[in-house]
Amino acid sequence: MSSSDRDGIKNILIVALSVCLVCSIIVSGAAVALKPAQAANKALDRKENILRAAGMLPDGAIVDAQGRSVDELFSHFEVHAVELSTGEFTDAVDPATYEPLKAAKDPKSSRPLSDEEDIATLKRLERYSVVYLIHGESGIDRIVLPVRGYGLWGTLYGYLALDGDGETIRGLAFYENKETPGLGGEVTNPNWRALWPGVDAFDDDGMPAVQLVKTRSPEGSVAASHEVDALSGATLTTRGVQNLIRFWTGEHGFGPFLKSLKEAA
Ligand SMILES: Cc1cc2nc3c(=O)[nH]c(=O)nc-3n(C[C@H](O)[C@H](O)[C@H](O)COP(=O)(O)O)c2cc1C
Repeated sequence: MSSSDRDGIKNILIVALSVCLVCSIIVSGAAVALKPAQAANKALDRKENILRAAGMLPDGAIVDAQGRSVDELFSHFEVHAVELSTGEFTDAVDPATYEPLKAAKDPKSSRPLSDEEDIATLKRLERYSVVYLIHGESGIDRIVLPVRGYGLWGTLYGYLALDGDGETIRGLAFYENKETPGLGGEVTNPNWRALWPGVDAFDDDGMPAVQLVKTRSPEGSVAASHEVDALSGATLTTRGVQNLIRFWTGEHGFGPFLKSLKEAA
């Protein structure tokens, strides 16, 4: 074969198409082969964040102080599906596989929120969500709830943990946000997160009362019991966090569920 035949347009196309075909087979093969590992990593990450919110796994660690693994610690949780509007447990979906975020996008399993209801800028609300509970000797010891809401640049996703009383915050952990590192991104700073345990989520009338403030009320006052420091230079993220906590502890979020737990206690 002369070199002009070899460099002809037909050969160039054959070589280019063959390279494309081989590459696409490698990429799609890798995507299929890695899917189970990705799903396992996603599940592990979710468990880690639930445990961090509940104060059971230190930041950055993959075992607790006693060396217990994420799976071992997570096995203490009971996972339940809850109908948000009634606050009742439901068997309508399997909590082990149900994905509230997917459900929120599907008109068949969610509803639009009105402007008045939508203080966390969610647009749609899933009918069912999932709650994580730990039982102690005298009833429920810890409650972990998935929460989300808009900050400045996008939606923050995380978990809010409450004590068994359904009122006292145990912790807050965001696993995804688009806020600016050093400003709104400080929502993941352990020092800021350490301000949350002990905060009272509700006022005397049972209404969501968490308040993020630049100046704290006098120590020991009722107002101070609901307060967390605002993030400096990140007023909009701060407002977003306050709104999302109030939404998810409120009547359209887990308010009915927390109320029914209290009534059952
Ligand atoms: C590059 C850049 C990134 C910013 N990122 C954030 C952010 O993540 N969260 C936030 O609330 N404000 C952020 N801001 C600041 C807001 O634009 C706004 O000025 C601020 O939230 C208002 O806060 P202030 O009332 O304390 O001044 C950013 C500003 C700039 C210029």
